[in-house]
Amino acid sequence: MDKIIDNHGRIINYLRLAVTDRCNLRCFYCMPNEGIEFVDRKELLSFEEMLRICQILAKKGIHKIRITGGEPFVRKGIMDFIRSLSKIEEIKNIHITTNGTLTRKYLDELIELGINSFNLSIDSLDKDRFHQITRRDYFSEVMLCLNEMLEKNVDVKLNCVVMNGQNTEDIIPMVSLAKEHAIAVRFIEEMPFNGNGKDEDHLLWNYKKILNHIENHFGDAIKLEDPAYATSLNYKIAGFNGSFGIIPAFSRTFCGTCNRIRLTPKGMIKTCLYDDGIFNLKELIRSGATDEAIELAILEASSNRAKDGFEAQENRLNTKVSESMASIGG
Ligand code: GTP
Ligand code: 5AD
Ligand code: SF4
Repeated sequence: MDKIIDNHGRIINYLRLAVTDRCNLRCFYCMPNEGIEFVDRKELLSFEEMLRICQILAKKGIHKIRITGGEPFVRKGIMDFIRSLSKIEEIKNIHITTNGTLTRKYLDELIELGINSFNLSIDSLDKDRFHQITRRDYFSEVMLCLNEMLEKNVDVKLNCVVMNGQNTEDIIPMVSLAKEHAIAVRFIEEMPFNGNGKDEDHLLWNYKKILNHIENHFGDAIKLEDPAYATSLNYKIAGFNGSFGIIPAFSRTFCGTCNRIRLTPKGMIKTCLYDDGIFNLKELIRSGATDEAIELAILEASSNRAKDGFEAQENRLNTKVSESMASIGG
C-alpha cells in the first residue's frame, strides 16, 4: 500500500481530526470567556466531507484517527459520523480526546464500535479549582465519566495541563490516582494556544520541573519504554498499577518522530501543531476536486513539512502563537 512519507523521512500514519471548534467549557488556557468567534456552520467541514477525506487518507496508510475538538460531543451528528468512520477497514484505531462532560451516555455504543481508548481532559481533582479553570460547573459529571470509564475497563489517559499558580497542587493527587487505577495520568506543558493573544516564551513548569516535583514527593520514578511515536515521556512509581507521563508540548522534544497530520474544523491541513495552516482542503473539495487531486494536495503538503515545531512556528505569517486550541484540535 502507498504510504505518506514526509521530506524528513517520517512516516505519516495518524490523523488528528478536529470535528468542531465549539466547546461547552471555557478552560482559560484554551479560550477566553467571552468574545469568541466560533466558525460559521457553513465554514465547517461537513461530516460527509470529513468522511471522504478519511477514506482517501485510509488508502494512503493512515490507520489511526484521533477525534478532537473543541469538544467532539457538542457537534450534532457526531455519533453517526463515528459509526461511518468505524466502518473504514483500513482505520484500525479510532481514539477520542474529550472533556468528559457529555461522553458518558455514548460510552457503551462507542465500546461496541471498537473504540476503547479515551483521553480525558481534567486539570484538577478539586471541584472549586476545576470550576476556576473551566469556568463551568461540570466537575461531578466529569468524575462520573472517569469512574464509568474505569469500570468499563477502557483505556483511559488523563490530560492535565500544568499551570503555574493554578493547579500545581493537583500534581501529586493526580499521580496518586495511578496507585489504584491502571490509568496513565499525563501532565502537559502549557502552550500559548489560548485564544487571547498572549504568547509567553518562558515556561515555568517545563517537563523537567514537573518530573522533579513528582520525584521529590514519591522518590525516583521508573522510566518506562515510550511507545513508538508517543508525545509523552512515561514513568511509573514502584508498586502503582498505573503510570504517569509528561508531555513536553511546549519544549517540543518529540518532533523527530512525529507521525501526525491535522485537519482543522474549517478544513485546513496542518502538518504541525505550531504551523498556521498549510493548505485549504475545504476550498479544494468545494471546487469539485477529484479524490486524486485531494490526495495529491495532501501529499504535497506532507512533502514540505517543517522539521519541528520551532521551524513551523518561524514559518508562520505571524510567529506569535495565540489561536485557541479548540480551533485547531490540539
Ligand atoms: P496519542 O499519542 O494519540 O495518545 O495522542 P496524544 O496523547 O498526543 O493526544 P491528546 O489529544 O491527548 O493530546 C495531549 C496533549 O499533547 C495536548 O496538549 C496536545 O495539544 C499535545 N499534542 C498532541 N500532539 C502534539 C504535537 O504534535 N505537538 C505538540 N507540540 N503537542 C502535541
Ligand atoms: N496548552 C497545552 N494543552 C492544551 N490543551 C488545550 N489547550 C492547551 C494549551 N494551551 C489540551 C487540552 C486537551 C488537549 C487536546 O489539549 O487540555 O487535553
Ligand atoms: Fe474545551 Fe478542551 Fe478547550 Fe477546555 S481545552 S475549552 S475542554 S476544547
